[in-house]
Amino acid sequence: PIESSVRPQSLKDYIGQTKVKENLSVFIEAAKHRNEALDHVLLYGPPGLGKTTLSMIIAHEMGVNIRTTSGPAIERPGDLAAVLTALEPGDVLFIDEIHRLPRHVEEVLYPAMEDFCLDIVVGKGETAHSMRLDLPPFTLVGATTRAGYLSPPLRDRFGVVLRLQYYEVDELASIVTRTADVLSTPIDHEAAYEIAGRSRGTPRIANRLLRRVRDFAQVVGTGDIDIRLTREALERLQVDEKGLDHIDHQLLTSIIEKFKGGPVGLDTIAATIGEERHTIEDVYEPYLLQIGFLQRTPRGRMVTPLVYEHLNIKDE
Ligand code: ADE
Repeated sequence: PIESSVRPQSLKDYIGQTKVKENLSVFIEAAKHRNEALDHVLLYGPPGLGKTTLSMIIAHEMGVNIRTTSGPAIERPGDLAAVLTALEPGDVLFIDEIHRLPRHVEEVLYPAMEDFCLDIVVGKGETAHSMRLDLPPFTLVGATTRAGYLSPPLRDRFGVVLRLQYYEVDELASIVTRTADVLSTPIDHEAAYEIAGRSRGTPRIANRLLRRVRDFAQVVGTGDIDIRLTREALERLQVDEKGLDHIDHQLLTSIIEKFKGGPVGLDTIAATIGEERHTIEDVYEPYLLQIGFLQRTPRGRMVTPLVYEHLNIKDE
């Protein structure tokens, strides 16, 4: 299926994150050499940078199966026990949004991670007793947008902690070119760079923009993606030169127009533009901070002069 090959299957096809890749390949090779499960891995960084893809690559490179779940999907200790007892030796268990695991579930995870065993309570009332189950050795791969969201005891149980960074434009251009190739869509160098430059450092956004530009190429063009068609499509998609979309614009203009450029608290911004505080914090804000459009101060968020320039607004 097309979807699965858009995601690279092996480390050598994974573009960018050089340090992460280099270190990970050493740990994988060493674990394989010793015939052991890879130590538990924590992946953290903004959404869309390839945490899920990397977890699949880890399983593929180790030659094991992967089971995927997420923090909020595991509500009770029994849910976690069901997943853990179904694992085979060496398997990868991927828990996305691991910071959202309920606390009482997290506590079941500690002995599972440390000693590969499970303490469960069987029965009710008078007959209730605790039982210890052995688990096969496995690799927990946890993903979160911020390591700081994890409780320290959970964070300390990961032997490998990897931080994913925003991608460079040339890396994103390579990803766009690779994906276009997988989708059998002709794209030239300039167009790939144009999409890359407007993808906020994020492969998920780059690949999404590529698909939408490809739609325009198919319907209003010849099917080939060139720079002229790309610029027209991105304009119609309301993605500006910096890759900022409608919501970024709303966020920035509301700070300028309603709060004189700030500082203003995150909850106030969230209420003003009708977005979740967490979505702003995890999805929109990190990139705006990275490109120097927003500043965090003790009294709240402030826009910088770059924003007035970019939005062509006079600073008064
Ligand atoms: N598709 C999404 N992320 C990718 C990456 N880092 N390398 C190659 N293809 C990708």
